[in-house]
Amino acid sequence: SVKSAVARSSSAHVARRGYSSESVPERKVAVLGAAGGIGQPLALLMKLNPLVSRLSLYDIAGTPGVAADVSHINTRSEVAGYMGDDQLGKALEGSDVVIIPAGVPRKPGMTRDDLFNINAGIVKSLCAAIAKYCPNAIVNMISNPVNSTVPIAAEVFKKAGIYDEKRLFGVTTLDVVRAKTFYAGKANLNVAEVNVPVVGGHAGITILPLFSQATPKANFSDEDIKALTKRTQEGGTEVVEAKAGKGSATLSMAYAGAIFADACLKGLNGVPDVVECSYVQSSVTDLPFFASKVRLGKNGVEEILGLGPLSDFEKESLETLKPELLSSIEKGIKFANQS
Ligand code: NAI
Repeated sequence: SVKSAVARSSSAHVARRGYSSESVPERKVAVLGAAGGIGQPLALLMKLNPLVSRLSLYDIAGTPGVAADVSHINTRSEVAGYMGDDQLGKALEGSDVVIIPAGVPRKPGMTRDDLFNINAGIVKSLCAAIAKYCPNAIVNMISNPVNSTVPIAAEVFKKAGIYDEKRLFGVTTLDVVRAKTFYAGKANLNVAEVNVPVVGGHAGITILPLFSQATPKANFSDEDIKALTKRTQEGGTEVVEAKAGKGSATLSMAYAGAIFADACLKGLNGVPDVVECSYVQSSVTDLPFFASKVRLGKNGVEEILGLGPLSDFEKESLETLKPELLSSIEKGIKFANQS
């Protein structure tokens, strides 16, 4: 009968839902700056991620269009677009992971620190809203200068009384992505098998790829290693110059951001042994924030891994980067605490 067919199909539906929510928990991911160069492809990649059940796209303009577009893709998550300050609370409410690519990108001749004056204020206000509307969310900071914006976020969260250092991450995944690509290319290795830890920070000489720990091993001269290090440090500038005024890395950054957010979601969901490099509050060195390998878990950072054995070149580079990284950290802290 029609009645029993309906009953059968609805119980099958319930059973399916019960099964899927047990194996893959509901997770809301918010992207702040979702209509931008990074935000749009990142929204696309997060829509393709089966670990996401709700995708919240926020920007000061343009998000209704991006959300309508992405929402037609036939994957798990429900997509909603939010625009302007009034809708920021709704965009954030209930978020498990908040990814922040909001702010201006570099133009040729600019350093990441040149973005400080504009982006610091944007990050500060977005983090105040996170503290208010989703204080337990994991934050993935993409907005530059990451070396300063992460300390700004920490200070804003401390002031709001909700700071948990385990939940705040500077996204340095693009440095790892670049190091892997350049290393594999030069060594003629299958890039899918290559691993390279990248530590320090996310700007110029503060980016320190540890090629001495790269796997599989390649036989490179000191000059080769220096050149690969420099290319990794200046990978962002390579893109800025090629785009000639039209911004910085967006597509490779969206890929890297999606990889890192996926790792955070896996950690939240209890998947064991999820390790990525990230810029976090750290005691690995004498600096208060530092990027290194981090094990991700149900509460965010589960363990910060040590640097491991360094080559003489890496030891020297580490000492050279510290003053610059420290001054970027202090600049962020000072900004967050004024007015
Ligand atoms: P974009 O200018 O194309 O997009 C930025 C978006 O942020 C725009 O849609 C803008 O409307 C939005 N926005 C501005 N103020 C906002 C606010 N208060 N709330 C929400 N959204 C706001 O810039 P793009 O290329 O997407 O870069 C974004 C940021 O990511 C830049 O700071 C850039 O330096 C950084 N970046 C970081 C990388 C990393 O490895 N961590 C790599 C590449 C870029």
